[in-house]
Amino acid sequence: MPKIKINPHNKTIEVPEGSNLREELVRNDIYIKTTCGGVASCGLCVAVIESGEEFLNEFSFEERQLLGNVFHITKERLSCQTIVMGDITIDLSAHQEAKTSKTIRKSREQIKEEKELKEEAKVLEPKQGGFRRPKAFKTEE
Ligand code: FES
Repeated sequence: MPKIKINPHNKTIEVPEGSNLREELVRNDIYIKTTCGGVASCGLCVAVIESGEEFLNEFSFEERQLLGNVFHITKERLSCQTIVMGDITIDLSAHQEAKTSKTIRKSREQIKEEKELKEEAKVLEPKQGGFRRPKAFKTEE
């Protein structure tokens, strides 16, 4: 049975030879982005192949359309189109985004709160300067 080492999870799973990479990841509760459900149309289920590319199937037409002919540079495959036939190592760092976007959302809330606090502070601040006319000097004669 082929083994898939998954980084950065530092997890290794055993899968039946000829199994679909995305299906095996989902079966093993490993989060992988998708909006199409595995029909090669969203292009989100990308996995970076760190080693063992020789144990994977050839690129499908749909995969080439979505990812182009740059595997030799990016080492990216659509996990929903990838069939595993031997030991491989993959990197799913890009699928850790869910946490990051939560952080961004949180910080936006914080920014909003800070803005509100600043506006409140402006209201409380005593007005300075402005366009008041200077007082006329009184001269004694
Ligand atoms: S799951 Fe959408 S392209 Fe693979």
